[in-house]
Amino acid sequence: MTVHFIGAGPGAADLLTIRGRDLIARCPVCLYAGSLVPKGVLAYCPDGARIIDTAPLSLDDIIAEMKSAHDAGFEVARLHSGDLSVWSAVGEQTRRLDALGIPYDMTPGVPAFAAAASALKRELTLPEVAQSLVLTRTSGRASAMPEREKLATFAQSGATLAIHLSIHVLPRVVEELTPFYGPECPVAIVYRASWPDERVLRGVLADIEARAAEAPMERTALILVGPSLAAEAFRESALYDAGYDRRFRPRGGV
Ligand SMILES: C[S@@+](CC[C@H](N)C(=O)[O-])C[C@H]1O[C@@H](n2cnc3c(N)ncnc32)[C@H](O)[C@@H]1O
Repeated sequence: MTVHFIGAGPGAADLLTIRGRDLIARCPVCLYAGSLVPKGVLAYCPDGARIIDTAPLSLDDIIAEMKSAHDAGFEVARLHSGDLSVWSAVGEQTRRLDALGIPYDMTPGVPAFAAAASALKRELTLPEVAQSLVLTRTSGRASAMPEREKLATFAQSGATLAIHLSIHVLPRVVEELTPFYGPECPVAIVYRASWPDERVLRGVLADIEARAAEAPMERTALILVGPSLAAEAFRESALYDAGYDRRFRPRGGV
């Protein structure tokens, strides 16, 4: 195996998986996405490792580094923030590696939405309130949203939304969601979840813009919207209901 893609987690270095840590520790080459990958994770690199911040590199440069490590018989730890499965630009790298016949594997990481939910101390799916979580974003300068993936489309379901890469368009998010969720729908913004400067802002669609204006947050923030963020009068789940017959806890006892 040459390239190990590793989800480096949301920020705190101790939110890296043990598998990820051990892989980093054995790779003489480490490529990391500098803008978001926590530097603390790099402390696991072995002495003398070639450690490269890929923020200023092009895809061609990154693949050239991987190829030259492969040709020299070196393993590469390739770190991305959060988990690899969402907005990591991993797909374009693995496609190139497939074409070059360079083997790779993937190790998951703690995604930002999970770190944000922990910061809020909330479950995002509550019985009969919300049973779905939509991980989405809005259009960016470099990436348009597919026409059928508009915020309004997801909002129709009433699911909990975790809106990434969108703090700079908060007014637009509020405007598009209010007709569906109503002005009193709970909203939370979690800035740099699990980093030392983590901040949490709570409000409702009607007042979140004003609250955010008091303490501006840039870039690394997640907007969470939906009734599950504040619901208290939800039904208890059947999972631990003493009267509910389950395979692992038959009603008649064991
Ligand atoms: C390029 S995406 C990376 C997502 C990442 N792969 C994941 O699994 O969460 C970057 C966006 O994720 C969100 N994000 C990443 N880390 C975060 C954190 N620690 N706290 C809050 N939001 C974060 C922000 O919305 C940011 O704009």
